Formats: sequence, structure tokens, C-alpha cells
Amino acid sequence: MSILPAVVQRESKRAYLPTPVPPDFIDELIEAFRWAPSCRNYQPWRLIAVRSQEGLDKLSRCLAKGNEWAAAAPLAFIVFANPKDDATIDGKPYYLFDCGLAVQNLLLQATEMGLRSHPTAGWSEPSIREAFGIGEEARVICVVFVGFPGTDNLLDPETRAKDATPRTRKPAETWVRFA
Ligand SMILES: Cc1cc2nc3c(=O)[nH]c(=O)nc-3n(C[C@H](O)[C@H](O)[C@H](O)COP(=O)(O)O)c2cc1C
Repeated sequence: MSILPAVVQRESKRAYLPTPVPPDFIDELIEAFRWAPSCRNYQPWRLIAVRSQEGLDKLSRCLAKGNEWAAAAPLAFIVFANPKDDATIDGKPYYLFDCGLAVQNLLLQATEMGLRSHPTAGWSEPSIREAFGIGEEARVICVVFVGFPGTDNLLDPETRAKDATPRTRKPAETWVRFA
């Protein structure tokens, strides 16, 4: 099989070097995010690139238990959207789907650039809203942590054990059918 290398190499690991991500790398990640497809090209996403120490400290105070590792990442993207900025078709709100596509673009671009990236949902939405001035009309969908890959010894034992767990997927035959 010939799967795109970034698809094969991308993984959600948790150790980061403190090295800042250069500004031109950040621009490239945002550009990859920007070119995602979206329903009717509505592009509902909003992004906050958190790169200042002040911003990262604020974000680290919003993390859920178990996600403390993310405080070491030198860069994070807060992905949020107003559901009204996207189409709802047959009762299906597409803003979550479209933001997911844009996040995957960013993850693959990061992988291609030798960066580690990790999408998360484990944080307090009200705390992120308050810390970053996101109004009630929007939903915070994902926070992607990014940085250069660190080694396992940077992690606490519990997180190290999580990272050592083999990555798995259900076999395709359990969820695909051909017609
Ligand atoms: C929407 C979303 C939310 C996630 N939230 C967290 C999280 O809060 N903490 C965490 O450690 N990993 C989180 N992950 C990472 C998943 O656990 C990971 O993608 C999954 O185990 C598959 O592993 P892989 O990304 O290495 O293929 C999240 C992934 C996604 C897509």
C-alpha cells in the first residue's frame, strides 16, 4: 500500500522540547489549516495561536486532569466556531465536521514539518472562554498542542505509560462495507 507518509507518521504523543516553534512554521501550519474544505465553503473556524508564555500559562490552567503534559508544549491552537457560521443540513450541523477537517490539515502539515502535534478535548471550555475572550455564541472544539518532539524521560510515569501503549485501530472489515 502507498499511504501518504504524514498519515502514517502522525501520532498523538505527549513529550515536547521547550524549543519555540519558529514564526514561519506557525504561518505554514495556519496556511494548511486555511485550505481545508468546508461545507459550502463557509469556513466557520476561528483560531487562536497561543505562543506567548503568558498565553500558554493561561491555557495550562484550563487543562483537565490527565492532560498536564500539554503545559510543556511551546505552541497551541485553540479551534473554536460559531455554529451559525456554518450550514446545517437535515439537522446535521457541519461546523464540527469542517473544523475537524481543518485540524487534520494542521496535524498532517505539522507531521510533514517534523513537529509533534496532539489534538485534545480535555480542558474546561468555560475557563478557555474566559481566559481568551471567546463569547458564548461560539463553541471551543479542539486545542491542538504543537512542538518539537521530546523524549520519554520528560514525562511523568503515568503519561509515559500512556505514550508507550501501542496505537491500535479496529480492523476495517468491522466498519466498512462495499456496495
Ligand atoms: C477530538 C480529539 C480529542 C482528543 N483529546 C485528547 C485529550 O484530551 N488528551 C489526550 O491525551 N489525547 C487526546 N486525543 C488523542 C487521542 O487519544 C488519539 O488521537 C487516539 O488515541 C489515536 O491515537 P493517534 O492520534 O496516535 O493515532 C484526542 C483526539 C481527538 C481527535
